[in-house]
Amino acid sequence: MAKLNTFTCSACGASFSKWSGRCDGCGEWNTIVEEAPLSAGPASKSLGAKRGTPITLTDLSAKETPPPRTGSGMDELDRVLGGGLVPASAILVGGDPGIGKSTLLLQAAARFAQAGLKTFYISGEEASAQVRMRAQRLALADAPVKLAAATSLRDILTTLETEAPDLVIIDSIQTVWADNVDSVPGSVSQVRAAAHELTTFAKRKGSSVVMVGHVTKDGQIAGPRVVEHMVDTVLYFEGERGHQFRILRSVKNRFGPADEIGVFEMTGAGLAEVANPSELFLSGRGNPAPGSVVFAGIEGTRPVLVEMQALVAPTPHSQPRRAVVGWDSARLSMILAVLEARCGIPFAGLDVYLNVAGGIKISEPAADLAVAAALLSAREDTSLPSETVVFGEISLSGALRPVGQTENRLKEARKLGFTSAIVPTGGKPGGDGGLTLTRMSDLTAFVGEVIGAG
Ligand code: TYD
Ligand code: MG
Repeated sequence: MAKLNTFTCSACGASFSKWSGRCDGCGEWNTIVEEAPLSAGPASKSLGAKRGTPITLTDLSAKETPPPRTGSGMDELDRVLGGGLVPASAILVGGDPGIGKSTLLLQAAARFAQAGLKTFYISGEEASAQVRMRAQRLALADAPVKLAAATSLRDILTTLETEAPDLVIIDSIQTVWADNVDSVPGSVSQVRAAAHELTTFAKRKGSSVVMVGHVTKDGQIAGPRVVEHMVDTVLYFEGERGHQFRILRSVKNRFGPADEIGVFEMTGAGLAEVANPSELFLSGRGNPAPGSVVFAGIEGTRPVLVEMQALVAPTPHSQPRRAVVGWDSARLSMILAVLEARCGIPFAGLDVYLNVAGGIKISEPAADLAVAAALLSAREDTSLPSETVVFGEISLSGALRPVGQTENRLKEARKLGFTSAIVPTGGKPGGDGGLTLTRMSDLTAFVGEVIGAG
């Protein structure tokens, strides 16, 4: 039976039986490419006739020691890794081109090498001289990292097999090219094959392999998402181009918590760790202004305070604008609808802009109440007292729902000099962190409080 080609989205990895202009999986245009079928190997032919070796089965209760971890000494990185680098693991670091992945990994490579790991940095994008120049600029030239510029997977694996390093950084997976795969470098099949071989190598030899993957919108080059399922840990390096803040976020981690973040600042001398992100995100805040509200959030295991900014203005267009930076636009529409339907506050005919200051992306529903407060405060031109933080989830009925880790949020707010908080009623009883709490159970009461504040 002839095997049909499949079609794969190079941005999200979804497969289809026929080509289309827009991917049903992720909604991107022109990202679907044709892939040769996987060869019908022995598995599909003569499984009955040829026997394999029996696999060993063990008990669930068998004692397992936690994996040994090596710290880089960069706390922001080690925490995101779940407490350090684990041997025999494959890590994917994704991010937009130019965001600072190579810089971060060169700094990390130097730290791990100094901590005693045999470290290789293999670049397929830059010549060794370029990497060396960057290392000099970052004052890392003395670190015992071995460099190579290579793209052939076969050559890379041959070297790794003989040298057996503890840590290998492959920058980037899209430049690595396997000669046994019949498609161009950077294509979905090439990237998958290369990632698969490198991951298998990591498991077999006990090395840690870090692969860099550029996020791309170009259909010809596969994005990091097509290999996310193969690796143990997926980290994304994010940030706004115009901002110097960078956030390393774990979206998957077999050796630690997901959703942990590390915060860095891009400086002239590379990435500097930001030990107290709340201080940084609130640093640009002036006097209390309409539309500005401080949200006490939790990112991973750490409380982070950020400023939510809203602007509401009469629209000159028939269709008002809703623009969001750093938050989910569907969630914004929901909150506008709840404010309108449950509290009788219309936003029709008004443009609404929402911005999370500092370039961080917030995905917690706990930010609902802070967003509502920012919108109300902008619309009514009143400001909340500057030493107040807000958090809580809003349900479609207009009720306020308690969120997790209340005490941690309050403690962080207290640490940064806030004196009061508006929070939902209910939830686990806990301390007030030393703040004056205003507890509310529904949005209507909250609206009264915010409007009354001005
Ligand atoms: P880079 O690490 O090359 O990004 P990526 O590998 O994700 O494509 O970083 C690129 C940007 O970082 C570049 O625009 C210059 C800036 N940069 C600094 O601001 N300071 C530095 O010390 C370094 C090395 C880079
Ligand atoms: Mg790079």
